[in-house]
Amino acid sequence: MPVGLAWAQADIFAGADLALGRQLMTQHQCEACHARHVGGDGTDVYNPAGRLKTPGLLRGMVEACNTQLNLGLFPEEVTAVAALLNRDHYRFK
Ligand code: HEC
Repeated sequence: MPVGLAWAQADIFAGADLALGRQLMTQHQCEACHARHVGGDGTDVYNPAGRLKTPGLLRGMVEACNTQLNLGLFPEEVTAVAALLNRDHYRFK
């Protein structure tokens, strides 16, 4: 995280490996599938209804997808993906 950035990552994602998160999302084609469902680049899938309200719920949602889609992500990988989504889309503190 560059020094001086106005926004600070949520505590539960502190130290998460964002590059790993990016790699996993590419590997598992998260956005390709979301794009098929919501169109565009797929990012409209993230929190359209505001259902997710905390970093913990976001991480839980990624864990649920992990289980449902049988992706076999390790806990630290789930955290890495959730941390990336938080930084780029949800911006929970
Ligand atoms: C096979 C298709 C598919 C794949 C692959 C997929 N998703 Fe999803 N995902 C969906 C659909 C469909 C929804 C919308 C579900 C809903 O709104 O009820 C969704 C919703 C989500 C949400 C919740 C959005 C919100 O704020 O309510 C998150 C977070 C998410 N996906 C993360 C991921 C991640 C991370 C991956 C890759 C590791 C992934 N998904 C892979 C189909 C997929």
